[in-house]
Amino acid sequence: MARTIIISNRLPLKVQKKESEITFETSEGGLATGLGSVYKQGDNLWIGWPGLFLEEEPDRDYVRDELLKENMQPVFLTETEIKEYYEGFSNETLWPTFHYFSQYAVYEKQHWEAYVAVNQKFCDEVVKFAQPEDTIWVHDYQLLLLPQLIRKQLAGVSIGFFQHIPFPSFEIFRLLPWRREIIQGMLGADLIGFHTYDDMRHFLSSTNRLLGYGNLHGLVDTGKRTVLVDAFPMGIDYEKYAALAIDPETIKLEQEFRQAIGTHRVIVSIDRLDYSKGIPNRLYAFEQFLKRYPEFQEKVSLVMIVVPSRDTVEKYKRLKEEIDELVGRINSSYRTISWNPIQYFYRSFPLPEISAFYRIADICLVTPMRDGMNLVSKEFIASKFDQKGVLILSEMAGAAQELADAIQINPNNIDQMADAIKEALLLPEPEQMVQMNAMQTLIKTYDIHQWVKVFMDRLSYVKIKQQSFTTD
Ligand code: F6P
Repeated sequence: MARTIIISNRLPLKVQKKESEITFETSEGGLATGLGSVYKQGDNLWIGWPGLFLEEEPDRDYVRDELLKENMQPVFLTETEIKEYYEGFSNETLWPTFHYFSQYAVYEKQHWEAYVAVNQKFCDEVVKFAQPEDTIWVHDYQLLLLPQLIRKQLAGVSIGFFQHIPFPSFEIFRLLPWRREIIQGMLGADLIGFHTYDDMRHFLSSTNRLLGYGNLHGLVDTGKRTVLVDAFPMGIDYEKYAALAIDPETIKLEQEFRQAIGTHRVIVSIDRLDYSKGIPNRLYAFEQFLKRYPEFQEKVSLVMIVVPSRDTVEKYKRLKEEIDELVGRINSSYRTISWNPIQYFYRSFPLPEISAFYRIADICLVTPMRDGMNLVSKEFIASKFDQKGVLILSEMAGAAQELADAIQINPNNIDQMADAIKEALLLPEPEQMVQMNAMQTLIKTYDIHQWVKVFMDRLSYVKIKQQSFTTD
């Protein structure tokens, strides 16, 4: 029977080793939920890195056996591979380049070679399991070469590739010394998906400028095969967030938060620690808001949750220091005995608490400099059971293409962000409800399950289309 194989750099779970004990924690992430209905069925499989370095063979065997029970297959990485492929090429070369931070990009031949070798390592694992009639779905920028590597070994197999981060304009992409190899690697897929039409357009432009391939409505003719390139804006598990928001445990948590915060109005922001998320600019904007509109001092608090991420990468360490310093400066300048302008948390929270934060928030402030999609903005909307609350959203997030009813801002415009906070705080409730209702209707329809279905349907469609091209 044909199976579906999902491949991503990280498996959808957290494996940890404390002293000699190995623990497994399932992921609450959107992708894990959406693809749960796929990889858990029958002989289907999810292949990826368990997220930690395991030196000893018995540990690896144990992890492999446990994961297999969940239809997962681990790819173990060495310490050098983690350093050069994951921290290095993926997160110090591709991540900054694709998020328009090319001044942060490191071009290291050794990192590139490790990236090639690890993509090959993933390929070796895939071909151990895959048959020509299977469907393979590769995810994200850590595995851009994988579609072509698999194609070389399994010529007729169906391969889908989805990029979860932006694809930059050709003027940025061309800076990469290995730009041709990357495009060729991606074109090994039958279907290449991006979150937005713009990302798709940028990819098609790079394909044309680097390899001379044209396209007709996203169908790229490589001379050997036809590849479809399309936009698939990713959704969330709407029902899960909506149900969680009215769960008695969440309501109780919200009451506890309310008691602690007092009557202040609440702005919430939740991100991984990442320079693409625009955290310093958000802090400057909040400071500007307090300065410009002093009548709101002691009346509004920013609850800012920053989830630790990639803390072994130099730029992330420095960003953490910058944020700590800014928060300290703003709080020490404006705080009173009974009010702290910014409640800053540098840690992750369990989902019920996140839901309680969304419930209590008057505003959700999402200000990335660049973001593939941004699911926090959608989670906030799904959690607003009474439709009261305002989303302030950066126009640089993929989600901005869909969420036209949010107050949209340019994260480089500090004054505009400060004014948007005031506007959101003063927006009459009936207007909040009209906007929220429109956004809820949209993200409820295009949820994560719909996203998976549409992508899979398009992949089947392009395979049929390819046959009609070869018989023409
Ligand atoms: O947004 C891209 C992404 O790779 C997500 O899939 C993931 O949740 C996030 O970045 C964090 O990545 P990492 O695996 O490096 O912690």
